[in-house]
Amino acid sequence: MKPVMVAVGTRPEIIKMAPIIRALKKTDTPMLFVHCGQHYDYNMSQQFIEELELPAPDYAQQLKTYSQGTQTARIIIYIESLLKKTSPATVLVEGDTNGVLATALAAVKCGIQVGHVEAGLRSFDLRMPEEHNRRLTDHVSTYLFAPTKTAESNLEKENVWGEIYVTGNTVIDAVMQHMPIAQRKSRIMETVNFKKFILATAHRAENVDDLAVLKNFMQAFAEAPLPVVCPLHPRTRKRLRQKNLYRKISQSKNLQILPPLGYLDFLVLMKNCELIITDSGGVQEEATAPNIRKPVLVARLSTERPEAVEAGFSHVVGTNREKIVNMIKNVLTQQKSLPQKSPYGEGDAANKIVGILKGKIPF
Ligand code: UD1
Ligand code: UDP
Repeated sequence: MKPVMVAVGTRPEIIKMAPIIRALKKTDTPMLFVHCGQHYDYNMSQQFIEELELPAPDYAQQLKTYSQGTQTARIIIYIESLLKKTSPATVLVEGDTNGVLATALAAVKCGIQVGHVEAGLRSFDLRMPEEHNRRLTDHVSTYLFAPTKTAESNLEKENVWGEIYVTGNTVIDAVMQHMPIAQRKSRIMETVNFKKFILATAHRAENVDDLAVLKNFMQAFAEAPLPVVCPLHPRTRKRLRQKNLYRKISQSKNLQILPPLGYLDFLVLMKNCELIITDSGGVQEEATAPNIRKPVLVARLSTERPEAVEAGFSHVVGTNREKIVNMIKNVLTQQKSLPQKSPYGEGDAANKIVGILKGKIPF
């Protein structure tokens, strides 16, 4: 029996693939777990495999910093060699990273089917590498697992040739599976300096690689009407250091900088904060989970997650300091009640995806 290859490379892919790996194991489906090495620090990668109790990858490479093109190319070469060696029935990829595009390209070039989890998202912002990656991956995939009807409709408009299934997003499964464990195990609140706080993350290349935007964010955090707790992505830490801003912002009394956190700690921070400011994709979705339900300011010019905006959870606020600070004040004073249900599903996306695959592929 040919296995399903589950490929990951970055923090959010590990988190969002975890429920699928569990569903594959539960149904005794033969699986190969591959890490393409895009993220490599312990706290961006291995920490999640351990915390989420995933099996050790069957194959993994260490791929340190390269330019986008080189990174993509190195992953294509690596995955192609694995595909030749292992001949899986299908390759599952999740999301929109360079690793996802590289893996999908390597698979189609070897004549192996691709299943794209989280297919059909569109920001319509072509500055973003993620927008190129997700569009191209969708167009070479045989199975497109769209989290929502909006994503399905994006795919239909583009006439993708694969089969589209609306399944919900596995991130809701991940939140539901891990929040009870997080609340039992995490001690992160003992290290947070504030009772009431805003949780902030920023790592998008078009934001933090732009000095003006990076400064705007840091000023907005320093001036926010509530203190800000910010687990810092390594890309952002690197940019702050390069621009000699790191020391200054780490001295701000209104801002607590933390290292990249494990999933259990991050879930607890989401649960306990008053508001989230982020340019993360996954965090926009997680904030809508029934056991989190927090307002989110999306510090970007666009979002590929409009469902969270339509449901009233998210507000796309742009990257201007004054606008961000004003919106924080508005949201904190309005205290609008948020829907009980998430637009990203009910926590059963992974079972649906595995059920569909098992109906299609003779395992
Ligand atoms: C990547 C994805 C992005 C995703 C994010 C999840 C692309 C184009 N971007 O962005 O869509 O939202 O992962 O976090 O695929 N670095 C480290 N250690 C690590 C990983 C990264 O120090 O373990 C630093 C390096 O300086 C590296 C930089 O971060 O050059 C950027 O890493 P990269 O994986 O290229 O992009 P991300 O910003 O992490
Ligand atoms: N996350 C985490 N620790 C952190 C920051 C984020 O575990 O310090 C989790 C978060 O809950 C979400 C995922 O990482 O599931 C989002 O990753 P990121 O923002 O890096 O990528 P994106 O979702 O934007 O691709």
